[in-house]
Amino acid sequence: MEQTAATGITVQQLEQFRQITGAQYVLTDEETLNEHAHDQTENLHFLPAVVIRPRTAEEISAILKICNEYKIPVTPRGGGTGLSGGALPQLGGVVLTTDRLNSILEIDERNLQVTTEPGVITEVLQNAVKEKNLFYPPDPSSRGSCFIGGNIAENSGGPKAVKYGVVKDYVLNLEVVLPNGDIIWTGCNVLKNSTGYNLTQLVVGSEGTLGIVTKIVLKLIPLPQYDLLMLVPFRNLEQAGEAVSAIFRAGFVPSAMELMEIDALKIVSKMVDSTAVPVTEDTAAHLIIEVDGNNMDVLMAEMEAIGNLLTQYDIGEIYFADDAQQKAELWKLRRRVAEAVKLIGYTIEEDTVVPRAELPALIRGVKQLGLKHDFEVVCYGHAGDGNLHIRIRKEGIPNSYGNEEMNGILRELFELVKGLGGTISGEHGIGLIQKGFMDIVFRDANLHLMRQIKQAFDPNNILNAGKIF
Ligand code: LAC
Ligand code: ZN
Repeated sequence: MEQTAATGITVQQLEQFRQITGAQYVLTDEETLNEHAHDQTENLHFLPAVVIRPRTAEEISAILKICNEYKIPVTPRGGGTGLSGGALPQLGGVVLTTDRLNSILEIDERNLQVTTEPGVITEVLQNAVKEKNLFYPPDPSSRGSCFIGGNIAENSGGPKAVKYGVVKDYVLNLEVVLPNGDIIWTGCNVLKNSTGYNLTQLVVGSEGTLGIVTKIVLKLIPLPQYDLLMLVPFRNLEQAGEAVSAIFRAGFVPSAMELMEIDALKIVSKMVDSTAVPVTEDTAAHLIIEVDGNNMDVLMAEMEAIGNLLTQYDIGEIYFADDAQQKAELWKLRRRVAEAVKLIGYTIEEDTVVPRAELPALIRGVKQLGLKHDFEVVCYGHAGDGNLHIRIRKEGIPNSYGNEEMNGILRELFELVKGLGGTISGEHGIGLIQKGFMDIVFRDANLHLMRQIKQAFDPNNILNAGKIF
């Protein structure tokens, strides 16, 4: 799908932008516009009128003042790895990328905090603090290319969330440029704060609709010294789902508890040309289970106890990743599933989340829907959080956005999720493609309140307009 910019930008406005950032950072060439016309969401493609690459909060403030005056749509963009269309400029206008705000400003070892700009790649930040024996846990699969600013916008999670929490649990304070150009700090660099409304947490997960984050203060924790990783094959998919909550009920808190349906593993193994995990024909799914901590004996005992607990299910031979290389190989397979399944036509991805014990019911329901509506489906994700990624392939329907039939199917899926006490996004956000389903999980009064918040921040609706609602 291709649309040209709905909102033109005048020659004079372009000149004003050039004076703010320098001419080389205001881009209108076809190649750049095309690069910024898509993120990782489905097969969607919307051309912006211009891409601007500012360097500072002050430059962003000056740009937003102009856009606010002339009501030019602005779509903020991080690494472009989003899966809900948050960075898609479906109204044309300006794409404002944060790629030049890419410095880690300070690692405060006294207070276990880091102050960073939003354009730093998440893994780069994690490695920088790791050198100081510190840990920033949220680790989306795209951590090698996503930006920390995008993670703030989506309140991202990843495998470690099951033990360590998601992005919101680490954000202490944010510098934000508001749509009118005002620059504020939302909070304070402290671990407790009950001073007024919590603007920090309002901005986290707001998908670039309330302001543009230009500095981020994150809490860090000491780096756990050891981890152990195992892969457990299940002959029955629903049983894999049941085992997840049994492990937590037995008192274990794994640092990762991921589910991969067998098709996901086969597809990704083929893409990366890996035989690391032997696939036996009777395996339906794997659980990837990791524990971490500072006492190796305790971790070994934990792994053994979890393994013993799982013998009550119909499982195959457990595979232990023995060394750093085997662990890395296993995690590579898991992290690249989204990319691999999309490549072969599973373009539609949902990010459902249910209370953990409802996971088997969700899996069962999803499979039934697939049969009823004749679509192929692969499930994988953060089983320990009840957060299941559901990837769909249906002949002739590459996008859910704008497709009535697929939206009907997704409505049924989300009604199922709601019925199980869950919601429609755990970590990818609502963005463009899920906004039509907000009525399933919220009452009018909730949505009205959210719209009023948007109005208070952005009365002219210039910033990522048409997302979330
Ligand atoms: C993952 C991304 C898609 O879990 O959230 O791989
Ligand atoms: Zn995920």
